[in-house]
Amino acid sequence: MNQNELKKLVGEKSVEFVEDNMILGLGTGTTVRYMVDALGKRVQEEGLHITGVTTSERTAQQAKSLGIPLKSVDEVDHIDLTIDGADEISSDFQGIKGGGAALLFEKIVAINSDKVMWIVDESKLSPKLGSFPLPVEVIPYGSKKIFERFAEKDLNPKFRRDPVTKELVRTDSNNYVIDLYLHEIDEPHSLAEYLINQVGVVEQGLFLDMVDTVIVGRENGPEVIPVNR
Ligand code: A5P
Repeated sequence: MNQNELKKLVGEKSVEFVEDNMILGLGTGTTVRYMVDALGKRVQEEGLHITGVTTSERTAQQAKSLGIPLKSVDEVDHIDLTIDGADEISSDFQGIKGGGAALLFEKIVAINSDKVMWIVDESKLSPKLGSFPLPVEVIPYGSKKIFERFAEKDLNPKFRRDPVTKELVRTDSNNYVIDLYLHEIDEPHSLAEYLINQVGVVEQGLFLDMVDTVIVGRENGPEVIPVNR
């Protein structure tokens, strides 16, 4: 199976956990795209009643096109379950997210969810976080100063640019993303605290102690892993 087939496999598996009348957080990314397709199919074929809370414009557009009713996080009193992708998951189930620049809304939706599920192909698993560059969303004003501070601290920052236009990437909130090329993160909790305390940083991509279930796409089928936290 290639990577896309593994993504499809976990996307389809994850919607088996969706029950009638749930309020569902819908993540962002290529894996989530398969999940939203499978969810739309259940809505259309089974008449499943759900309300989606999306984490990006991209997911909102897809969900709307499939007839999934949507509300914003401020319009619901709870979210039963959020299903999202991840860029890297360590052996102790900490995660890096934001490869699709949706980390801010993804984190807002995740922390307001009763349960969080991540769906990944097996290439996303690594013993320790850091091989995927850590995204940090920053306000444009003063972002050069933050960048310089990160560089002085040897965090290897790089502004994210569109690979085609070379323009700086803007998030759904019109901010920039600085990716930190760290290779190995020894102490994710203290790094997360340092980053979020920098004035001008809106959010950072370490998603710590947040996930309840991980579904990993493997050659021999999806593996559902419950996480104790
Ligand atoms: C979006 O900002 C990210 O957090 C995605 O959830 C993550 O990048 C996973 O995306 P893929 O499923 O496309 O790999």
